[in-house]
Amino acid sequence: MIKFLDLHKLNKPFETQFLAKTKSFLDNGWYVLGEEVKQFEQSFATFSNSKHCIGVGNGLDALVLILKANIHLGNLQKGDEVLVPANTYIASVLSILQADLIPVFVEPTIETYNIDPNLIEEKITSKTKAILVVHLYGQLAEMDKINAICESNNLLIIEDAAQAHGLTFNGNHTRAFSFYPGKNLGALGDGGAITTNDDVLAEVLFSLRNYGSSSKYKNDFIGVNSRLDELQAAFLNIKLPHLNTENETRKKIAKRYLSEINNNKIDLPICNNFNNHVFHLFVIRTENRDKLQEYLNSYGIQTVIHYPIPPHKQKALQEFNHLSLPITEKIHQEVLSLPMSSVLTDEEITHVIITLNSY
Ligand SMILES: Cc1ncc(COP(=O)(O)O)c(C=O)c1O
Repeated sequence: MIKFLDLHKLNKPFETQFLAKTKSFLDNGWYVLGEEVKQFEQSFATFSNSKHCIGVGNGLDALVLILKANIHLGNLQKGDEVLVPANTYIASVLSILQADLIPVFVEPTIETYNIDPNLIEEKITSKTKAILVVHLYGQLAEMDKINAICESNNLLIIEDAAQAHGLTFNGNHTRAFSFYPGKNLGALGDGGAITTNDDVLAEVLFSLRNYGSSSKYKNDFIGVNSRLDELQAAFLNIKLPHLNTENETRKKIAKRYLSEINNNKIDLPICNNFNNHVFHLFVIRTENRDKLQEYLNSYGIQTVIHYPIPPHKQKALQEFNHLSLPITEKIHQEVLSLPMSSVLTDEEITHVIITLNSY
């Protein structure tokens, strides 16, 4: 079976280093917010060309804390509207709701799956104060256009980069990352981070993630406990230097998929510029998605659906269930994610391609 994502194989080359690091972690006896977190925050800030990195518990918390910090600083107010792509993982939407803000859904383009910049302005009202841009599946959203719209409408831009580690970003914005194990940079458990160039925001974020405390037992904000775990930071320190190479391998696989898959029943994703994609996922579309998934499975190829139900149709978000977002709904009905990771072999990729071409 060709796994959609073989995490064991992916992490195997680091095993000796993980074990050695775990031993020194045990010997050291410092378990929370220690040198490993500090080192990772410095390295990831440098890697991301950012002034600050704040390690947090997961990607959802990274988003919630960015929004809450902006509320603390008066840049946003509870009840403000935040534009968000309708086609995203539910975490993007949950973060807005958890910060007592109101999500307003914007449809994507069917070619890129990312937010359609041409549909943003019609959603802006006097209550719209921010946009949460998502670089879905690892592809940069159309930031030139989005930046221009936001500048002329005075909107704050926050980026959900949970699926986009290693992407060359565009603009001086605060970004949220997830280190969930399956991400391009994955921990061995949960983890997340925020990058920002804003000194004041960074100070609030360092405090918010740690009970709103800047020094022990002195609390300035109503914060949360969402710290990047010390051991996960240690694992991430080992993996970060390999991220660019792994992303290059993903790109090579995507190039093969794009040039060699040829079947008129299958729509391939559009990638106009390989510098703007880190291929967290390679997502195709087909009319009878379940049939294709079964077919691939019968040939030993595991696929995953990202995602089967859009956020606005989820039971948890009942107040939005009445919305009609046809492009998003079509995408959710038709998408299928092919095996994609840096440990796929040439033979496995060839098998996926040949099998798809004879469907
Ligand atoms: C687009 C997007 N945003 C946010 C998240 C939340 O990250 P986490 O699972 O680390 O909370 C994820 C990942 O699951 C995601 O894919």
